Amino acid sequence: LPKGKDLLSEIDRLKRERNAVILAHYYQEAAIQDIADFVGDSLDLSRKAADTDADVIAFCGVRFMAETAKILSPQKTVILPDMDAGCSLEDSCPPEQFKRFREANPDHIALTYINCSAAVKALSDIIVTSSSAEKIISQLPKDQKIIFGPDRHLGGYLSRKFGREMLLWPGACIVHEAFSEKELLKLKAQHPDAPVAAHPECPGNILDHADLVGSTSAILKFALESPAETIIVVTEPHIIHQMEKAAPHKTFIGAPGADGNCSCNNCPFMALNTMEKLYLALRDLKPVIEMDEDIRTKALKPLERMLAMAS
Ligand code: 13P
Ligand code: SF4
Repeated sequence: LPKGKDLLSEIDRLKRERNAVILAHYYQEAAIQDIADFVGDSLDLSRKAADTDADVIAFCGVRFMAETAKILSPQKTVILPDMDAGCSLEDSCPPEQFKRFREANPDHIALTYINCSAAVKALSDIIVTSSSAEKIISQLPKDQKIIFGPDRHLGGYLSRKFGREMLLWPGACIVHEAFSEKELLKLKAQHPDAPVAAHPECPGNILDHADLVGSTSAILKFALESPAETIIVVTEPHIIHQMEKAAPHKTFIGAPGADGNCSCNNCPFMALNTMEKLYLALRDLKPVIEMDEDIRTKALKPLERMLAMAS
């Protein structure tokens, strides 16, 4: 395997040879973010995947994100450096159980977080991301009954914010559940002027201390635009790479877990993708996302609704 600068130039060469675009999520390691053509949150990345004219999408994120790219761009070859890059939210929501939950609540629509399998998307009415959920909910009639899954924390946050009850699927993100309220309060006491920006996948007792609750791109925007010199970041800490690049004079502190440091909040699924695996994926055009066409066309509808309602 090529190493160092050779690895960078080989990835670049293969990218051109394949007419590939590299899309990366903010939770990827710094080197992957730096070599990507585009880095963004789930909504930005799905828009890019829908719009690109590349033949190959090398998706550096987790599997549900690469699957979303395939659903939106079926004619493209979508590769994921490590096919085991899953998500605890997806794991918490098996399609068969979700189907039964829907059948038990036939008068509810299913508003579903994008962090789920293609099969669960196919059983849903509208997909949302953390950056589009508020805009989408505000367009739904007040008396519309809603099932929200799989993230109970994002669902709970939306339910409180909009004052509307929703039936919540009991899933959670293992990364955002690892933040400690006690440690966050200690950190705030040490930095009383530092605002706190948190992702809505965090439990309510963490969000209660946040000055901003938003998607990864909203957190990044807030951190860069805030007049504060120090900002406390309550999401997966690899996003701090973009903050430090754009505002090297500021201090960004990743919020801690119960052990008092923030490395326990690294997403273990995102970490499966590496530069070496990205190189191999571009070289061999695998692992490749494949999908049953019936599931894909069913999953496309709620995704297209999201893109239309979020624009
Ligand atoms: P964003 O859409 O905010 O980037 O969130 C994706 C994600 O998986 C958060 O854990
Ligand atoms: Fe899934 Fe959480 Fe990792 Fe995001 S951070 S991909 S929600 S496990």
